Amino acid sequence: MPAHLQPLHLLLIGPGRIGADLARRLRADGHDVRILTRADYGDFAAPTFNPRHALRAIPPHTPAPDAILHLAGLFQIGPDANPDHLRHANADGPIALAETLHERFPHAHHILFLDARVNRPPQTDPPPLRPYLAAKRALAAWALRAARDWGRATGARVNAIAPGPVLPPPDPAHSEKAGECLTPRPTLADIHACVTLLLAVPSLTGQTLYPAAGQHLL
Ligand SMILES: NC(=O)c1ccc[n+]([C@@H]2O[C@H](COP(=O)([O-])OP(=O)(O)OC[C@H]3O[C@@H](n4cnc5c(N)ncnc54)[C@H](OP(=O)(O)O)[C@@H]3O)[C@@H](O)[C@H]2O)c1
Repeated sequence: MPAHLQPLHLLLIGPGRIGADLARRLRADGHDVRILTRADYGDFAAPTFNPRHALRAIPPHTPAPDAILHLAGLFQIGPDANPDHLRHANADGPIALAETLHERFPHAHHILFLDARVNRPPQTDPPPLRPYLAAKRALAAWALRAARDWGRATGARVNAIAPGPVLPPPDPAHSEKAGECLTPRPTLADIHACVTLLLAVPSLTGQTLYPAAGQHLL
């Protein structure tokens, strides 16, 4: 941990592959990391989804988190990709959860996870990626609004990390080529370094970091 970064209380939403690795690294840095899983916050795509259910997994006397890391998301391409499901899982659900957590913890810093390709012009998206990237772009636009509104209201920060191809999709039915890279591919260590930077620099808000081997430029 950098000498200037004190141990923090962190809340990590969605301990998939990147999230589980990140939680281990952040704990090794000395941070207190509380994890919320789908069992706590529910299925973003279910009609019964209620972001307030997540609050039940946080005991009342728990210290307020300094930062909340939103890793939960879904990648699907191809004929069985479900646009509604992708929008719920990558935008509507994470936004509703972030807004609920902001009400409860109005000073916490939020870090959202996007995809490097949100930086490309939408009209160049390959058709199979359109629903997924449209959802991630909706999340990116919301993050900028929240950074401005929450910053004014409480000083809360909102930032994002937009990775390139760190790990292949978990479901082989939705696998894709990693694509052209301008540098070595991003790693789990790169994600940890980006999170550490955002945590450590208090004037960063409304930012997106691209650990993406330059893929956001292509
Ligand atoms: N892997 C990469 O190289 C890469 C590249 C670009 C962006 N990203 C972004 O980085 C984040 C983490 O990626 P990852 O590879 O670690 O993902 P992952 O292994 O697929 O984990 C995804 C997480 O999201 C949760 N989730 C998925 N669908 C959900 C739903 N409908 N309702 C509630 N929770 C749901 C999963 O819960 P369950 O475990 O219960 O299914 C899991 O905790 C994601 O937002 C992803 O879009 C990753």
